[in-house]
Amino acid sequence: MFHNIPRTVEVRMRYLEIMNKKDKLNGTRRLQRLRQIPPETGKFIALLAATAPEGTYLEIGTSAGYSTLWLALACRELGRKLVTFEVLEEKTSLATETFKVAAVEEVVKLVKGDAREHLGDYNNISFCFLDPEKEVYLDCYEAIIPNMVQGGLLIADNAISHKDELKVMLERALNDERVDALIVPIGSGELVCRKL
Ligand SMILES: C[S@@+](CC[C@H](N)C(=O)[O-])C[C@H]1O[C@@H](n2cnc3c(N)ncnc32)[C@H](O)[C@@H]1O
Repeated sequence: MFHNIPRTVEVRMRYLEIMNKKDKLNGTRRLQRLRQIPPETGKFIALLAATAPEGTYLEIGTSAGYSTLWLALACRELGRKLVTFEVLEEKTSLATETFKVAAVEEVVKLVKGDAREHLGDYNNISFCFLDPEKEVYLDCYEAIIPNMVQGGLLIADNAISHKDELKVMLERALNDERVDALIVPIGSGELVCRKL
């Protein structure tokens, strides 16, 4: 998977990594910043996506599509598709451009809008990467877990960097008897849950 990243994907990843670095430093307002995962988290979620059972693959919080490109590597290898949700118009434009220039449009479907209004349309969920605003995590978690297949994986970003803001959701997951869960110290901290 990592040894044969298509050139179109690699070029767009490098471009977004530079944009992400710049907008952290140049005073871009928080909502406009890309706030992407680092590459090591990208590899981590791609590895987990490549081991998830067959079913529906979701991502909540697309931004410009950087994390999506990592997940698309796994989906491409497995012949699966990924649905990714983004609520902000300017981010959906950037993500649309990303998926076009990286040539992953056949693997990725972008849904524009608040993920919470759409999650009820999906079942047999076998993989979900959760990376929206912090106040949205718990609602998404509660909507996804009942519709997740056995062995399905839910990964939530920022489990260490924003542990106080995510406290209720993290405690819910870590004490939830429907899943095995732990927090992995990679990047901003990834909560990994596996449905029992
Ligand atoms: C931290 S960024 C995502 C970064 C992206 N996962 C990456 O690593 O490349 C969070 C994104 O989630 C979007 N978002 C926030 N709440 C959302 C919601 N309820 N539904 C869909 N997208 C949402 C924001 O607009 C923002 O672009």
